[in-house]
Amino acid sequence: MLQILENSSLQNFNTFGIDAYARFFVEINHQDDLVELFSDPQWKRMPYLVIGGGSNLLFTQNFEGLIIKMNIRGIEHRINHEQVMVEAGAGEVWHDLVKYCVNRGFCGIENLSLIPGSVGASPIQNIGAYGIEIKDVFHSCTAFEIESLQFKTFYHQDCEFGYRESVFKGKLKGKYIISSVKYQLSTQQRLKLDYGAIKDELSSRGIAHPSIKDVSEVVSAIRVAKLPDPSTIGNAGSFFKNPVISTAEFQKVQQQFPEMVHFIVPDGIKLAAGWLIEQCGWKGKVVGHTGTWKNQALVLVNHGNATGSEIFELSQQIIQSVKSKFGIELEREVNLI
Ligand code: EPU
Repeated sequence: MLQILENSSLQNFNTFGIDAYARFFVEINHQDDLVELFSDPQWKRMPYLVIGGGSNLLFTQNFEGLIIKMNIRGIEHRINHEQVMVEAGAGEVWHDLVKYCVNRGFCGIENLSLIPGSVGASPIQNIGAYGIEIKDVFHSCTAFEIESLQFKTFYHQDCEFGYRESVFKGKLKGKYIISSVKYQLSTQQRLKLDYGAIKDELSSRGIAHPSIKDVSEVVSAIRVAKLPDPSTIGNAGSFFKNPVISTAEFQKVQQQFPEMVHFIVPDGIKLAAGWLIEQCGWKGKVVGHTGTWKNQALVLVNHGNATGSEIFELSQQIIQSVKSKFGIELEREVNLI
């Protein structure tokens, strides 16, 4: 029997630590719970929001519908020669999955160590860090179709992965709920070490031939040094996406700002939003109960008791100043509720 809570605080369910309320709240522990929930017309009609780790959300108001907290657990793997298929429930904590794989010598997601959030969110957001994105290791996922009450498999080609994008954020938004994800990893050590910060940290530790575990540790150390721990300082990681602009546009703006940090990507030039924000003087600035992180301007933080609207207001000001200094429009990565 599903337990539906009423007027439930969401403070412990979003990493910004915003004290918003949900009109109704339910935890999903098994696939069958989804069928039970949506078989009831009362819930099928109601506006709903699925949450995993709550690490990419900003509540600017109370949620007058049903919050569905995914809690389906379990991790399994199957080894076939050099390949390992790892399947995890949507409610598994992402970093627990990383540890499971690193401890068994399964290679592929060690660069994604310590990313807050859940397994179920990983393909929606195509999470990425330090040279790897989920799309590089994603095999398939099982998702519940709300309309038909059926489970469906989505393979790589169905997901339309892009930078922090997928079909689940695009045209299928609100139609499916991911219940489990399969990742294709390898028992062979094929490490991705191109990212400058990884190279630097390995060499400062004197590690010339790193193991999967070394990479996981190094990435974790870099993240801890740069990013605030959401259990002590509320935040949702990068608040904005790194903007991608055309080469022509870049050449124009680079004339005025020759030192602009940039990376060549297949569809143009990716700029570092953190750099743009820092150049506008926002890095480490405290504004009321909120501000940007002292070591990474792309991260907005709750210094305690901030409301979602305060954080939203700060993000508007940042967008405004980046726009007027560089003519570049930042886009939020975090979902606004
Ligand atoms: N930079 C600054 N000032 C800042 C922050 C960054 O000048 O305050 C410069 C850095 O010096 C560097 C460049 O910007 O030259 C890139 O910085 P960093 O390596 O910290 O990465 P990022 O582009 O800011 C992205 C992801 C992160 C991911 C890291 C590492 C996005 C929006 N963010 O950040 O993902 O961990 O790369 O791969 O793509 C997230 O999505 O929540 C997230 C944390």
